[in-house]
Amino acid sequence: MKLRVGDAAEIKEGEPHSFRLVRGGRYVNCFLFRLKGKLIAYENKCRHIPVSLDYDDARFFDAQRRYIVCQTHGALYEPSSGECVEGPCVGASLYPVSLDVTASGIFVESEEVL
Ligand code: FES
Repeated sequence: MKLRVGDAAEIKEGEPHSFRLVRGGRYVNCFLFRLKGKLIAYENKCRHIPVSLDYDDARFFDAQRRYIVCQTHGALYEPSSGECVEGPCVGASLYPVSLDVTASGIFVESEEVL
């Protein structure tokens, strides 16, 4: 089913938005952000060790806002592709989350509406 996770007009460049969905019977923490106008979402899970990228503070980017950064060991991910370009998981990619952006909101697939 479709889960509404936000309103496109509310997602500003440089202000990531956390949300969660249900997949495989489990809650999956995710985040979305706007990059050069486009909305992109990934699971909030590092590819080195499956911990969250942030510390529940929605700080997903480095100081220059160039890369998504894992706060545990500092892996850097390319925002547009999710690929790790520096750190212990180079070459692995964040798990993308498909977004359905409509006039009534941003929607993702979820096994439950939270
Ligand atoms: S847990 Fe993310 S880089 Fe190690």
